[in-house]
Amino acid sequence: MPTWFENNLPTEFHLPTIIKGPWTREARQRALDREILQHYIEYFGKAVKTRNWSPWHNLPIAEMREWGHRLNEETVHLIEGFLGVEEYVGDYVLDSLALFHDNRTRRNMQLQWGAEETKHGVAWELVLKHSQVRTEEQLEEYMQKVREHHWTLKGHPGADTPLGVSCYAMVQERATFYNYQELRSRIREEYGLPEKPTAEESKRGYEVGASEAFRVVGIDEIAHHGIFLKVVLSYIHYFPSMTFDVLQNVFEGFRMPSLNLIPNVRHFLRAVRRTDIYSGPIHREKIHNPVLKALGLEDNDAFERAVLLARKLPENLGPDAVSLSRFGEWVVSFTEAPAPA
Ligand SMILES: [Fe+2]
Ligand SMILES: [Fe+2]
Repeated sequence: MPTWFENNLPTEFHLPTIIKGPWTREARQRALDREILQHYIEYFGKAVKTRNWSPWHNLPIAEMREWGHRLNEETVHLIEGFLGVEEYVGDYVLDSLALFHDNRTRRNMQLQWGAEETKHGVAWELVLKHSQVRTEEQLEEYMQKVREHHWTLKGHPGADTPLGVSCYAMVQERATFYNYQELRSRIREEYGLPEKPTAEESKRGYEVGASEAFRVVGIDEIAHHGIFLKVVLSYIHYFPSMTFDVLQNVFEGFRMPSLNLIPNVRHFLRAVRRTDIYSGPIHREKIHNPVLKALGLEDNDAFERAVLLARKLPENLGPDAVSLSRFGEWVVSFTEAPAPA
């Protein structure tokens, strides 16, 4: 009988006849690779159908010019700092491409993800320029300084493997989404607009000026969180012990990328402090805990329990033999179906 996964593949992806066998490491890796391919196909389809926007063509540039004088100096420093972070996209892709040289699905996923990320730096450049808070020369000088440095995965514990990079991206994308939502709220307040879109904005289908840019980029960021979350959930399904060890490592050493490399970093960090947009407690409440919930866990105690107990799971159990409760306890059953070849 075909599995749910096989039933949901487009016809051209129907799998060849398979031979059943034990759940060896190789069998689990093969099944994981197939599942990740399916995630990527769904992600790609949605990305090109529903998030296919252009920063030069689809943002309300004239309104940015009209409303830009209302932006607060701290808000401008925050947008500029996020421009710096986004502008390291070439290095983010470069590092992960080296990691995925022999993995076609993950290589393509990183390329697609990177192509989407390239739009975000352009969007922040356009916001700063057309709000008339930075000149073209200032922006060129800023981006020149960005290019003087190279970002690498090295400063991010646990993020240097295919699994680790997925765990890291899952958290980082969620944090970026949160930061951009907060910045969008600030911009709306400074524009004198309510938190939620006005009736007029809803009717025409886009928000005012820079608020629209943050809305559109935010949708990309939460979609990025979603694809890496799905990859991590699949890893948990096939390699629970390893995945929870890596998750613990990545969570413990997590910090946002490139912050030590961006130009004018002191202005940016001062703006972060003054606006209270991001801090350790905010990270725990708004990013770490929601990520745990998305992984199916109640809280951090449940996560720590899951890490400890995962180390005791028997080797070579199939994915359907193991399930995780939301309190971090593993349930093992020894009557599962054999592995596909
Ligand atoms: Fe981004
Ligand atoms: Fe992103």
